[in-house]
Amino acid sequence: MGILLKDFQGSLPLYILLLCCLVDICQSLTSDGEALVNFRTSIISSDDVLGQWRPEDPDPCGWKGVICDSKTMRVISLNVSNHKLKGLISPDIGKLDHLKFLDLHYNNFYGEIPPELGNCTELQGLFLQNNYLSGFIPTGLGNLSNLQTLDISSNSLDGRIPTSLGNLRNLLTLNVSSNFLAGPIPTDGVFDQFGSNSFVGNSDLCGKQINKLCKDEVGNQQTTGNQNVKKNSGRLLISASATVGALLLVALMCFWGCFLYKKLGKNDAKGIAKDVSGGASIVMFHGDLPYSSKDIIKKLEALNDEHIIGAGGFGTVYKLSMDDGNVFALKRIVKLNEGFDRFFERELAILGSIKHKYLVNLRGYCNSPTSKLLLYDYLAGGSLDEALHENGDEQLAWETRVKIIMGAAKGLAYLHHDCSPRIIHRDIKSSNILLDGNFEARVSDFGLAKLLEDEESHITTIVAGTFGYLAPEYMQSGRATEKTDVYSFGVLMLEVVSRKRPTDASFIEKGLNIVGWLNYLVTEDRQREIIDGECEGVEAETSDALLSVAIQCVSPSPEDRPTMDRVVKTLESEVMTPCPSDFYDSASD
Ligand SMILES: Nc1ncnc2c1ncn2[C@@H]1O[C@H](COP(=O)(O)OP(=O)(O)OP(=O)(O)O)[C@@H](O)[C@H]1O
Ligand SMILES: *[C@@H]1O[C@H](CO)[C@@H](O)[C@H](O)[C@H]1NC(C)=O
Ligand SMILES: *[C@@H]1O[C@H](CO)[C@@H](O)[C@H](O)[C@H]1NC(C)=O
Ligand SMILES: *[C@@H]1O[C@H](CO)[C@@H](O)[C@H](O)[C@H]1NC(C)=O
Ligand SMILES: *[C@@H]1O[C@H](CO)[C@@H](O)[C@H](O)[C@H]1NC(C)=O
Ligand SMILES: [Mg+2]
Repeated sequence: MGILLKDFQGSLPLYILLLCCLVDICQSLTSDGEALVNFRTSIISSDDVLGQWRPEDPDPCGWKGVICDSKTMRVISLNVSNHKLKGLISPDIGKLDHLKFLDLHYNNFYGEIPPELGNCTELQGLFLQNNYLSGFIPTGLGNLSNLQTLDISSNSLDGRIPTSLGNLRNLLTLNVSSNFLAGPIPTDGVFDQFGSNSFVGNSDLCGKQINKLCKDEVGNQQTTGNQNVKKNSGRLLISASATVGALLLVALMCFWGCFLYKKLGKNDAKGIAKDVSGGASIVMFHGDLPYSSKDIIKKLEALNDEHIIGAGGFGTVYKLSMDDGNVFALKRIVKLNEGFDRFFERELAILGSIKHKYLVNLRGYCNSPTSKLLLYDYLAGGSLDEALHENGDEQLAWETRVKIIMGAAKGLAYLHHDCSPRIIHRDIKSSNILLDGNFEARVSDFGLAKLLEDEESHITTIVAGTFGYLAPEYMQSGRATEKTDVYSFGVLMLEVVSRKRPTDASFIEKGLNIVGWLNYLVTEDRQREIIDGECEGVEAETSDALLSVAIQCVSPSPEDRPTMDRVVKTLESEVMTPCPSDFYDSASD
């Protein structure tokens, strides 16, 4: 913003001219509409629900999921639940200050709940459940005095429950279940109305509502940490407007709105160009690539949002094509903290030194002042998550699934047993198993969870999307070991054979996850039912052997789980035994 302002003053006449052309178009969309356009900008993928949100409309009242008050034409309800929306919840949502209902549940939103929501004081219903939201619950939500329903269950929120929520006098329903909240449940105000059902499934909550005594600890007040992030830009704007005048401000807002709309989302790409322009250095690990730093930086500068291939808990992933046809995947992690660079570089050098057939190569990185850009080999087959769950009608054949499990096992075993120092992956899940063109699996993102956790200097063990893969003792203690990886690997095996995500709705309905379901089937001796009925070429013998390995891997107690070496050996002897392709087909029932 600051930079934009400066530019603006520099070439005032030019901009005024430009404005004259733009004002016409700009005037048309209401401020609520602009806030919604910004809301859309921070969403990187979805089914097509936001497709017909047309910024050239005079107001957003006809947009899908939006309801306006018929007199004031202000937005009073935004409901885009269950549309595969992936991205951050824009702080601009706080500008919708007539909003009564906000329903974003059942999507893939990650990042924090914006504290700006505390500005939507008319809110009566707030539904954010079943996303991947992390961080603290904003204390400002305690200002929403009209709130009747607050459901933020099934996310990855941590920290304490702010006592301010006790002020919500009109609250009828509260649900913070299935997060990673900790500390005492407040007892003031409205809190004594709610029973254990509102709080279940959190790692470390205590209090009379859930019949768990609190140890009297002098904990640090975590909940107040994240409130003051966005203040600076506001102050800058105010002082500038004092000197330049109100007219300019209005003009600027208008211009900026248009500018944003025109570039819908190109923000991030500009970010990269900015990242690398300010004194970035490139470090490559395997000396076998024929590019100079300059070549690479030039390519980085040309990246924009058309090159985005995915986003995860740590950042956005871009596809980077070099002139000679080589392709890489670039992971951009926005810097959270300065000052740990040497530590970071050393760890990266270790990760970069690892090379293995079943691991994704880290080729190098660019350490710019504002972000970290990690350069990986690009894998044409995408992630296992996509291959399993987003591939329409074409399901992976049994043989392919076995091959993928085998490869992933070997990659992980290498990290655990053959690397020096040994590496605990910490984030084994289907989106971190990538596939090459021949459906050979490669494990990606190893070591990253640790690296970024240390950097953030407080424990954020829970990465977006990981929920469901975590071993029970890991949820309790936050301490990762080889055996917690083995558990996650067991869950991954189950996901591959069943083609169901670990927290698939069909399990949740029964109050279980995939492991709970498996355990139930085992007690009834029906474990074969977990296998995907639509998978072609399932062989009873190998599937029994696979399941028995998976069952061991997801044992509740770490000592009962095999090591990854053991897993590989068992799979090799009992699952891969080449039964010379016998042509007869026993598939017909
Ligand atoms: N090297 C790569 N080659 C091809 N596609 C990739 C590569 N790395 C990542 N992707 C794609 O980008 C998506 C996002 O990756 P990313 O690692 O950022 O998130 P994630 O795996 O879902 O979560 P996490 O941040 O925990 O690793 C992946 O699901 C995959 O489709
Ligand atoms: C939002 O839409 C879904 C699906 O149409 C519906 O089930 C849900 O009740 C709506 N939420 C609100 C707050 O009206
Ligand atoms: C909205 O909320 C933010 C942070 O909570 C605050 O800084 C800002 O002043 C608020 N804006 C308005 C218009 O109230
Ligand atoms: C909530 O209300 C208090 C007092 O009315 C105010 O000081 C605070 O800034 C508000 N918080 C937010 C996030 O609006
Ligand atoms: C809260 O949500 C969980 C599922 O995440 C559900 O089991 C529980 O019954 C809900 N509690 C209330 C009070 O609605
Ligand atoms: Mg990943």
